[in-house]
Amino acid sequence: MVVKLEVINELDSLYNRAVELITEQLNNGANTFGLATGGTMLPLYEKIRQSDLDFSNCISVNLDEYVGIAQSHPESYRSFMNTQLFDAKPFKQSYLPNGEANNVQEEAQNYENLLKSLTLDFQLLGIGENGHIGFNEPGTAFTSETHVVKLTESTRKANARFFDSIDEVPKEAITMGIASILRAKCIVLIAVGEKKRAALEALVYGEVTEDIPVTCLQQHPNVIVLTDLDLSK
Ligand code: F6R
Repeated sequence: MVVKLEVINELDSLYNRAVELITEQLNNGANTFGLATGGTMLPLYEKIRQSDLDFSNCISVNLDEYVGIAQSHPESYRSFMNTQLFDAKPFKQSYLPNGEANNVQEEAQNYENLLKSLTLDFQLLGIGENGHIGFNEPGTAFTSETHVVKLTESTRKANARFFDSIDEVPKEAITMGIASILRAKCIVLIAVGEKKRAALEALVYGEVTEDIPVTCLQQHPNVIVLTDLDLSK
């Protein structure tokens, strides 16, 4: 078991620790950062916005983007990243998949080619209640690269809180694959709140299985998990 688990009950301290890990990366010369969206990342990006961290010589690549909503839509991941991070902390170059592409399959392939041309020093991850990472839903092959995915009802329901109604939640997304994510040199996963307990337990104690995508991280040599969940309870 190589996943390093850091249980930090107090959320402010947990997010300070995440900022510390990113700062260490920058100080050690990391310049390519894989980023994530979602509610879990909001306090982190807020802390980064308020920090003096400088990413102007760095590249960012995001995990995923919805298909079928404009990049200018307030709930697109491009808008999320602009508002939460990039407007305040610009990177030299920031990439997200283009969910508006005419040919999304081709876009997924192009994104994978881009990833392969880079070395991801660091990848930030959240976790879905069903154990998804990126939008790699249960059953996704660990050999998968960037691809177009149909979102499960459970994920659409979980994300409906950001939209006026569930009908407006996109049905597809482009996501980095499991293999694409595992190429990152260092992975930091943040799991906060009771809803994430089952998925986190699977990561820490469970068998490695494609039925619970996050368990792939057991096969990675450098994973740090930050959580407020005490798994002994
Ligand atoms: C976001 C992403 C997703 C989220 C996950 C948790 O880019 O790839 O895997 O990390 O759905 O979302 P929140 O943080 O909203 O619970």
